[in-house]
Amino acid sequence: GSLTGLDLKAEIERLRTERNAVILAHYYQKPEIQDIADFVGDSLDLSRKAADTDADVIAFCGVRFMAETAKILSPQKIVVLPDMEAGCSLEDSCPPDQFRAFRAAHPDHIALTYINCSAEVKALSDIIVTSSSAEKILSQIPAEQKIIFGPDKHLGGYLARKTGRNMLLWPGVCIVHEAFSETELLKLKVQHPDAPVAAHPECPAYILDHADYVGSTSGILNFAKTMPGDTLIVATEPHIIHQMEKAVPDKHFIGAPGADGNCNCNVCPYMALNTMEKLYLALRDLEPRIEMDEALRLEAKKSLDRMLAMAS
Ligand code: 13P
Ligand code: SF4
Repeated sequence: GSLTGLDLKAEIERLRTERNAVILAHYYQKPEIQDIADFVGDSLDLSRKAADTDADVIAFCGVRFMAETAKILSPQKIVVLPDMEAGCSLEDSCPPDQFRAFRAAHPDHIALTYINCSAEVKALSDIIVTSSSAEKILSQIPAEQKIIFGPDKHLGGYLARKTGRNMLLWPGVCIVHEAFSETELLKLKVQHPDAPVAAHPECPAYILDHADYVGSTSGILNFAKTMPGDTLIVATEPHIIHQMEKAVPDKHFIGAPGADGNCNCNVCPYMALNTMEKLYLALRDLEPRIEMDEALRLEAKKSLDRMLAMAS
C-alpha cells in the first residue's frame, strides 16, 4: 500500500513501543533517522549497545556488517536492517575465499581485522578492531607477533605509522574516504587558516597528513565539542555534521571536499539507502531480517568477543 499521508515519525514511535524495539543508528545516517534513534554512535559503541540491550527487536540503521555484528552478539533478538542492500566497499574488497588464502599463505601471522567486513571474514580472523579501539588492542599484542591487517589499507597504514608496528596490509579501501581531494582540502585551508582538520583514519595518508585530529566518528564528534576556535573542517562522511551542529550550535562545520570542490561525493551510498519509510516498514513487517548460520555466528563471535574484552 501507499505510505503517503502516514506520519512516519509517529508510526515509527508507535511501532518501537509495540515491538519493544530499540533503534540504533550510525552517525552517517540521515538527520531524521539520527533524531528518532534511541542511540547514535560509532561502530564500537553500537556493538556494545547491541550486546547489552534488553529490547526484543534491534532496528539497525547502518550498514549490513553492523547489523550482522548486532546479530552475532545478540542472537536471541530479531535484528532488522531497513535496506539489506546497505553493504560496504571495504567488505566487498575482501571476499572470504581470498582472505582464507591470504591467511594460509602467512601461517605465522595472526589476523587483526577491521569490523567493516563480512561475518565470514570475522570468523577467519583472530581479533576484530574498530577505529576507536585499534590502537589500544594493538598495544596488547606482543611486539614479536606478526600481524595481517585487513581490509582497510589506510587504517592499517595509519596504525603502522602511529605505533611503528609493521603489519601486512590487505589492499581494501572505503570509497567514501578515498574520495577526498588533497588539492581541494588545501584550498579550503587557505580560506580558513585557523580551522583545524579532523579526519577519520579510513582517509588516505595524503589527507591524514593535514589532520590536527585523527579518530573514529565518536572521537571526531568529541573533538568538535572540545576544540579551540569556532570552525572545523571535517574529513569524514558529512552526515556526522548533524550531530556536531546539535551539540555545538555556535560553531561552524565544513565538510572536506572531493575533487569537485564540495562534499556531496563523500556521502556513503550504502548508508544513504536507509530511509524513514524503510525503517517504518522494517518495524511493521520485522523484515528484512538478519539471519545467520549458527556455526558461522559462533566462529565470528570469538574474534568480536576478543575485541570487546581488549577494548574495555
Ligand atoms: P566508526 O564510526 O567506528 O568510526 O566507523 C566509521 C565507518 O566508516 C563505518 O562504516
Ligand atoms: Fe563502508 Fe565507507 Fe560507507 Fe563506512 S563510509 S559503510 S567504510 S563505504
